[in-house]
Amino acid sequence: MSNVTIVGTQWGDEGKGKIVDWLSEKADLVVRFQGGNNAGHTIQIKDKIYKLSLLPSGIVRKKISVIGNGVVLDPWALKEEIASVKKKGIKVDPKILYIAENTTLVLPFYKDIDSLNESLRGKNIIGTTKRGIGPAYEDKVGRRCIRLCDLKNKKKLRIKVQSLVEYHNPRFKYHNKKLLSTKDIYNSLVKISNFINQYSYPVWKLINESMKKNKKILFEGAQGSLLDIDFGTHPFVTSSNTLSGQIYSGTGLGNSSNYVLGITKAYTTRVGSGPFPTELKNSIGEFLGKQGNEFGTVTNRKRRCGWFDAVLVNQTKILNGLNSLAITKLDVLDKLENIKICSGYRINKKIINYFPADEHSQSLIKPIYISLPGWKSSTVGIKRWDKLPAKAKKYLKTIEKLTNCKITVISTSPERNGTILLESPF
Ligand code: GDP
Ligand code: IMO
Ligand code: MG
Repeated sequence: MSNVTIVGTQWGDEGKGKIVDWLSEKADLVVRFQGGNNAGHTIQIKDKIYKLSLLPSGIVRKKISVIGNGVVLDPWALKEEIASVKKKGIKVDPKILYIAENTTLVLPFYKDIDSLNESLRGKNIIGTTKRGIGPAYEDKVGRRCIRLCDLKNKKKLRIKVQSLVEYHNPRFKYHNKKLLSTKDIYNSLVKISNFINQYSYPVWKLINESMKKNKKILFEGAQGSLLDIDFGTHPFVTSSNTLSGQIYSGTGLGNSSNYVLGITKAYTTRVGSGPFPTELKNSIGEFLGKQGNEFGTVTNRKRRCGWFDAVLVNQTKILNGLNSLAITKLDVLDKLENIKICSGYRINKKIINYFPADEHSQSLIKPIYISLPGWKSSTVGIKRWDKLPAKAKKYLKTIEKLTNCKITVISTSPERNGTILLESPF
């Protein structure tokens, strides 16, 4: 198929960056369609490590890299990220990077609002990345945001900034915070426009024209399906739609068929607060965190760890219309004696096979597990299915059965080449 969409099927950090980099060898364009610099994607090529938040992961292979309008863009963070990848030998210029002109900008004071909102939530804190992502999407939906194209007309920009300041200042005043200044925000936007305007482009045209020319497009999702604003574990979610359907409104792509590959960790992790039925608050959870190096790329927070939850992945398989799964970090389980998979939920005396939407029912969930023997040998860097231990194959086959979704890619190390391909999505 000419288009492939990559989505995370859990709570993010499934290893999307690694798989996008690996798959982008075959792509002509790599396109981000939601999220912002709350994302942290790590790519390892031999001993070089790239950490990307806003740049599409295809940038490492010098592929045409596109930031769609569904993204909220912090232009100052992007400038820093471009400088950091340039130091590693990656050239970024307007021939390779295109940003949708109708992209909403993340303004510096959104980080202050993000922190204020979190502090007011008390014990219901979300544990956001504090990158101002939520406040940016709020202003977008509130129709008062500043978009990239607004930087082109200084007179109009000043009026927009003024009304934004008038909207937000009463709340800053109420909470005894420093008030926003139209002049300061306007001046910093004018300054950054000298850098960012060169990348501004009608991306919707580029995408649809590329489609017409049969170019191969890889849509790179950020976050994970369970952080989706509608279908995730609300309110402990991010502020964008993270599911595959977002590729259309997040880039301007017209209707087209595409292959949806769900990136899925061989166990489960989550950063921040919220329900997590299979969480392991014990030595096995600690082991997974240590073995899998489960620390957030963006905030360096310790990720919560738990067993694979087939109920959740089956649900996100349906929501995304997944064609197949890419299972990552299989090697992290190498040393375990026994490995569990959650196959259903018990709520009081009832058994259910889906994750309920209301927080009360969620709090009552008791996972039902099946237990499989561990393979207790190294799978690190294995590139062929027939080289995997029989018990690892059994584990993967069980995941396929319980999630009702075939596995076409298996990742066995952070390195680009530590990957088993069973069927190419392109
Ligand atoms: P993303 O946000 O989905 O792109 O994932 P992150 O980059 O935040 O987190 C995934 C982490 O796991 C990164 O440090 C990757 O280098 C690493 N990783 C990816 N695939 C594998 C794998 O198969 N095995 C191991 N051990 N690490 C992996
Ligand atoms: P990648 O693309 C994991 C989580 C935060 C928090 C919630 C809301 O690397 O998989 P936000 O700052 O978006 O308002 O925070 O969402 N979160 C992520 N967790 N991986 C991510 O991205 C995440 N992006 C946001 O930890 O719980
Ligand atoms: Mg990440």
